[in-house]
Amino acid sequence: MKLEEIHKISVLGAGIMGHGIAQSFIMGGYPVALYDIQDSVLKRAKTHIEKNLRLFAEFGLIKEDEIGPCLHRLSTTADLRDCVEESDFILEAAPEDLQLKQRLFGEVTSYCKKDAILASNTSSLRLTDIGTQAREKGRLVTTHWFNPPHIVPTVEVVKAEWTSEETFETAYALLLKIKKVPVRINKELPGFLINRIQMAMAREILDLYEKGVASAEDIDRAVRGSIGFRLASIGPLLTMDLGGLNLWFNVCKNLFPLINSSTEAPKALKQLTLQGLDGIKSGQGFYDYTRDFSQEELDKAVHERDKEFLNRLKKLYFE
Ligand SMILES: NC(=O)c1ccc[n+]([C@@H]2O[C@H](COP(=O)([O-])OP(=O)(O)OC[C@H]3O[C@@H](n4cnc5c(N)ncnc54)[C@H](O)[C@@H]3O)[C@@H](O)[C@H]2O)c1
Repeated sequence: MKLEEIHKISVLGAGIMGHGIAQSFIMGGYPVALYDIQDSVLKRAKTHIEKNLRLFAEFGLIKEDEIGPCLHRLSTTADLRDCVEESDFILEAAPEDLQLKQRLFGEVTSYCKKDAILASNTSSLRLTDIGTQAREKGRLVTTHWFNPPHIVPTVEVVKAEWTSEETFETAYALLLKIKKVPVRINKELPGFLINRIQMAMAREILDLYEKGVASAEDIDRAVRGSIGFRLASIGPLLTMDLGGLNLWFNVCKNLFPLINSSTEAPKALKQLTLQGLDGIKSGQGFYDYTRDFSQEELDKAVHERDKEFLNRLKKLYFE
């Protein structure tokens, strides 16, 4: 299927990722049918999308009078056939469970158009495994979004063993059209591109924290004000070019033997989770949150984070 043949989108699963992904497509001008097995989730998703559109308008990223038409393009349903039968691009953001996704894609292919593209938002599973029950496998592709998906620009477009070139390019073009920043990932490696990079960094950060080299506050301040500050604007390879490759070569040579290369799950996280500390949800993680942390406070913290992100999105991608 080609980009110009895509007229309707379906998003399956209206949780953390699904509702934000649906918002991106309605803002991009596409009618979207949002499906979930729970009516209560669909209701909540609609409320969140409306609230988030208002926030986008507040930051000047869409016009106030676009909110109504955007919402008009959104429909919700708990009937899978009804959701997918007329769609040209179907994206699943269902739970990260291989059998569930396999069954879902199998069922979807029995209802949808023969050439509709089927995309998965899986973080850690192989499309090659997810798609076993799907027909016409060349139309399968992974599009991996980042949370919050309606705000974070990058989407990894991953070519699995059987993804056709046309499907790969159409998914890429569609994301570009709705103003995301798609990136072609030519091989299906576990963790794709960004999670591999992020986990390599997490291993060292957690090791330094566990050894008491710096406090949680100081690690966060240091990263935000240095590599975080730079990477938000120019990317890691350009950073190396600007610093001089010979210098980077020497620093790698000196430090690689000394930094963490463990293949075990990090001790710092193991210790915290064994104590029942799960971060903001449990009221304590690396930081202390309020003792009786309510859903309302959690929503407020997410809202504050989104405002911070939208400021950055506007400056880095829209000005
Ligand atoms: N949360 C993240 O930060 C993040 C980031 C990138 C990718 N992902 C991936 O996105 C997918 C969804 O993650 P999430 O965090 O939005 O999960 P979530 O639990 O918030 O949402 C999943 C939704 O799927 C619904 N659901 C359950 N069974 C279903 C079925 N058979 N068909 C359709 N929907 C069904 C649930 O009711 C729920 O609303 C996962 O594959 C996850 O790995 C998540």
